[in-house]
Amino acid sequence: MNNNLLKGKRGIIFGALDDKSIAWKVAEHAHREGAKFVLTNAPIALRMGTIDKLAEATNSKVIPADATNMDDLDHLFTESMKVLDGKIDFVLHSIGMSVNVRKGNPYYNQNYDFTIKGLDVSALSFHKVMQAAWNLDAMNEWGSIVGLSYIAAQRVFHTYNDMADNKAVLESIARSFGYHYGVRRNVRVNTISQSPTLTTAGSGVKGFDVFYRYSDDLAPLGNADAEECAAYTITLFSDYTKKVTMQNLFHDGGFSFMGMSEESMSNYLNSSKK
Ligand SMILES: NC(=O)c1ccc[n+]([C@@H]2O[C@H](COP(=O)([O-])OP(=O)(O)OC[C@H]3O[C@@H](n4cnc5c(N)ncnc54)[C@H](O)[C@@H]3O)[C@@H](O)[C@H]2O)c1
Repeated sequence: MNNNLLKGKRGIIFGALDDKSIAWKVAEHAHREGAKFVLTNAPIALRMGTIDKLAEATNSKVIPADATNMDDLDHLFTESMKVLDGKIDFVLHSIGMSVNVRKGNPYYNQNYDFTIKGLDVSALSFHKVMQAAWNLDAMNEWGSIVGLSYIAAQRVFHTYNDMADNKAVLESIARSFGYHYGVRRNVRVNTISQSPTLTTAGSGVKGFDVFYRYSDDLAPLGNADAEECAAYTITLFSDYTKKVTMQNLFHDGGFSFMGMSEESMSNYLNSSKK
């Protein structure tokens, strides 16, 4: 699809690690829709990942930035405005990482140094990105900033661990900064609460396969994949959603409002003890 929805818009896309990443798909869609943008990721991820391929395919520049580091973010916004020749219209924050999850520490036995690191990377970085943009007055009027969340912010998914708390903070930051940025520059800030998606971050969660199947069975439209998430994100960057702000928007095939479905019921009946 190419409807020139983002023609003339300039963006910054955080978090494309490999071609499974949600941010990767967003970059491909944004390119097709006529946007120009800078790609960014943490320096270590740039060494491990394959972002150069994406940069070439989308004719974009890669500028490294650790999203927890204000100096890196200041440099990123300053350079991006030079490279793109103007202020920024859209920002995608597609970043998440829990050290407790990686190390296999359960929720009730966290290492708090790891907890604080995960909070910084997964949630506070969203605030830092916006504060860096704010201080440089880097966003254009009616710009759009999107972060990616998961329904574990509202409901318990027992192995999602401290990422659940990180997502709750992320969503709260979207509301609070959305207020301030709306008043100052008519910039909107939203989070998309996405279905389980087969990516590096997603499959790091213990029991991911079962979460995936469970929500796929329950959601009347099935899970949304990374391509579909990217398409939805593009609408939020476009001028068709100018008055949508401070929202957590579920993009999950209807899962968030389901209780029981015929398919889940039959799975349960087949497996339940007599
Ligand atoms: N995959 C899922 O099931 C799922 C579901 C809902 C929401 N999300 C969210 O979507 C977002 C993107 O994740 P994904 O699934 O595409 O996985 P991914 O692993 O491809 O992307 C995560 C990205 O975060 C980046 N990152 C980590 N630390 C960073 C730092 N300090 N500075 C800058 N970047 C850093 C990684 O390098 C990586 O590119 C995350 O916020 C994730 O929590 C994912």
